Formats: sequence, C-alpha cells, structure tokens
Amino acid sequence: MALLEIKNVSKRFGGLAALSNVSFAVEQGEIRGLIGPNGAGKSTMFKNIAGFSQPSEGEIVFSGQTISGYRPHTIADLGIVRTFQETTLFQELTVFENALVGCHLQANTNIFSAVLGLDKHKQSRARDKALEVLEFMGLSQRIDQLASELPLGSQRSLAIAIALTSGPKLMLMDEPFAGMNPEETRQMMELTRKVNKSGVTIVLVEHDMKAVMGLCEYITVLNFGTLLTEGTPEEIRHNEAVIEAYLGGSRKH
Ligand SMILES: Nc1ncnc2c1ncn2[C@@H]1O[C@H](COP(=O)(O)OP(=O)(O)OP(=O)(O)O)[C@@H](O)[C@H]1O
Ligand SMILES: [Mg+2]
Repeated sequence: MALLEIKNVSKRFGGLAALSNVSFAVEQGEIRGLIGPNGAGKSTMFKNIAGFSQPSEGEIVFSGQTISGYRPHTIADLGIVRTFQETTLFQELTVFENALVGCHLQANTNIFSAVLGLDKHKQSRARDKALEVLEFMGLSQRIDQLASELPLGSQRSLAIAIALTSGPKLMLMDEPFAGMNPEETRQMMELTRKVNKSGVTIVLVEHDMKAVMGLCEYITVLNFGTLLTEGTPEEIRHNEAVIEAYLGGSRKH
C-alpha cells in the first residue's frame, strides 16, 4: 500500500484549473520529486494534501485513510508536515526559541502557559525535543543566534528542524534549495537524505534539477495543472514532453 495516494484531484480557482484530474502515489520511504514549470500546480498540490485548501474533485489518501476534507491540524496530527516556499521563521527570536515555539505549536500546548512556566513537565519535554531536532539538523552551535542572523542554508535547516518536532511520517518540502549556492545545496542534499533515512518519506518540489535528480529515484511532472509524466531521473531528463514544457514558456503567477 502506498503511503500517499492522489486520486483524480482537481482544483479550480474560478475559471482556472490549477490542478486537473491528477493521480499519483508515493511509496513509504521515498524521496519523490514533484516538478514542473512555474504555475504548474505544485504548491497547490501541497496545500491540498496538507488541508489548507480542499480539492474541487478527487480524493487524497494517507496511510489508507481518506484525508481530503480534513482540517490542517488533523492532517498534521496524522503525520504530514510542510515546509514552505517562503520563510516562516520568527526573525527576532533565537534558533532555540524558534524550535521551542515549533514544539509547543505542534504539541497543541498553550504557548503562554509554557512561556510562563506553568507546566514544567511539558516545558522540559519541549526543550529536550527542540535541542534534539536542532542537533539532528546540525544547528547545535547556533542555538543562541537570532534567526535573522543565520545564513540561508541554516535558515532552511531550522525550518526543517521545526517541521521535525512533530515526528512526521511525510514531509512536503517546497523549494528548499531556492537561492542556494553550490555548497549550501550540497549540505541541504545531505540533510534531506539524513531526514529521509530517519524514516520520513519526502515529497520534494524543486526547480534545482541537480538536487532533484540527485535525491529522487522517481519523479512526477506537472504541467499546467495536469500530470505530464512520471519516471526515473534518467527518463525524465530525456523526456521530450518535459523538455518542451520547460523550454516552451510557462504560465506566470
Ligand atoms: N488562491 C489562489 N487563487 C487563484 N489562483 C491561484 C491560487 N493559488 C494558486 N493559483 C494559481 O494556480 C496556478 C498554480 O499555482 P501554484 O502556486 O500551485 O504553482 P507552482 O507549480 O507552485 O508554481 P511555482 O513553481 O512558481 O511555485 C497558478 O496559475 C496560480 O496563479
Ligand atoms: Mg510553488
């Protein structure tokens, strides 16, 4: 049984079909690439999986359970997290504080009671978890730095650390490599593999083809909201329709 099944999903915004009858399945343990030109519907797909938007038609199944129609927090509780295309860190807080806030938000605890020290047990558990995920993502040396002071690579690592605080089964990563230099890209590829090896299935939306081809064994291609093709990196690299989609101009936002 696949971990995630997208079944005939369509999403319309007025007259625009952001997704049209898209179906694919992601196996447990994969790093799946989800690629396509600008406006292809990749982020829309993520929003629909995570419950921030509902499919107009179709069904999304996770671990054998239909999740389309569920609220975002219910889907998060089932083990799906998303890292965002745009930065979502608290820039004026430290690395540790960002992770701690992440822990409390994920655990549905009252952040104020946590900050005021009203629940010592939960507070100490959250601190342990925050330190654990920061160490896992190689941020131990930076815990007292402000998020705003971090280089791009570490900002992205912190966003992933926060996503890991909930112990997810599936992570949806939206353009984690955007704007990175080659060294940052190399490090993020290593970290992505490490997260995957720790038992997290990953769907990776990314325009950096070197990263996608290097990380994914299988790639799903969207174009104008439809499923263009699927295949191994080698198959995708040589697919005429994929080359045409990327060269042929795209629908801009
Ligand atoms: N809330 C919305 N209302 C109206 N149209 C939307 C909305 N969200 C997305 N769209 C449109 O749906 C299409 C798909 O957008 P989406 O953001 O999913 O593309 P994408 O594949 O993530 O592109 P990019 O690679 O540029 O991030 C675009 O034409 C976009 O303008
Ligand atoms: Mg997008």
